[in-house]
Amino acid sequence: MKHPTGEPAALFPNLVFHGEVSKPSSLYRHPYPSPELAAEHPFVPLDFTRLDPDEQRERGRRLLELMQRRRSVRMFSPDPVPAELIDLAIETASTAPSGAHKQPWRFVAVASAELKARIRAAAEEEERINYLQNRMNAEWQEALAPLGTDWHKEFLEIAPWLVVLFEQRYELVADTSAEGVEGEIRRKNYYVKESCGIAAGLFITALHTMGLVTLTHTPSPMAFLPKVLDRPANERPFVLFPVGYPLEETLVPDLARKPLDEVRILIE
Ligand SMILES: Cc1cc2nc3c(=O)[nH]c(=O)nc-3n(C[C@H](O)[C@H](O)[C@H](O)COP(=O)(O)O)c2cc1C
Repeated sequence: MKHPTGEPAALFPNLVFHGEVSKPSSLYRHPYPSPELAAEHPFVPLDFTRLDPDEQRERGRRLLELMQRRRSVRMFSPDPVPAELIDLAIETASTAPSGAHKQPWRFVAVASAELKARIRAAAEEEERINYLQNRMNAEWQEALAPLGTDWHKEFLEIAPWLVVLFEQRYELVADTSAEGVEGEIRRKNYYVKESCGIAAGLFITALHTMGLVTLTHTPSPMAFLPKVLDRPANERPFVLFPVGYPLEETLVPDLARKPLDEVRILIE
């Protein structure tokens, strides 16, 4: 079987292509997993369907067009959003790759009016200091000027959901080192920020795909969030996402995105 671009199918072992399964190849002298590894840890066949080139291009274009229309929103409608959609976005986010598969994230989804009011009050208290008492330096303020953000965060009460993504700096697991021992021990997590950043991106993409809007919000500092949401010591707030529908006639800053040739260097 020849691949349409000319590569022999043997370059793509274990992949399904147009309904045919190519044979495991002898291309690798050090296959993954090694027989020793496979004997020690479970492995399963990759679930993968190879698409034809037209379909690949079409899917890529459609996703790009969809994502080009994503914007950060700061004027939310109070219209309710079913918890099921929030769950779908969180489950999608949680498919993110993570350092050593530690999945070092926890999403806290808040619809309670009382808690949203407390979060707004605490965020505005911090943001007042940022904006009115010059906690942000001049360069930062200048960068924010076109966005016109200020210390008012009414949307935190009006949006139907606030989803706070917490990064888990380490894991707390039951100590089973000896019989009769009780308590928890710390296990290290790896590449926590990178992992949470990828999960956040997938969360935003899932919301946008479902016709919802959000804002990547980082009221600074966010130390009030673990207190208000009663989170354990290993969790630190990463991003606060208000989620919902935009208010009618919402305006967003007229921003241009860098063109492809400014963000990509092609080395062939
Ligand atoms: C890590 C991060 C933190 C952000 N924090 C805030 C914030 O606290 N408040 C805010 O209004 N926008 C915040 N934003 C949103 C950016 O201002 C916004 O993404 C940017 O202006 C581009 O606009 P767009 O998202 O509509 O493309 C943040 C974005 C990122 C990625």
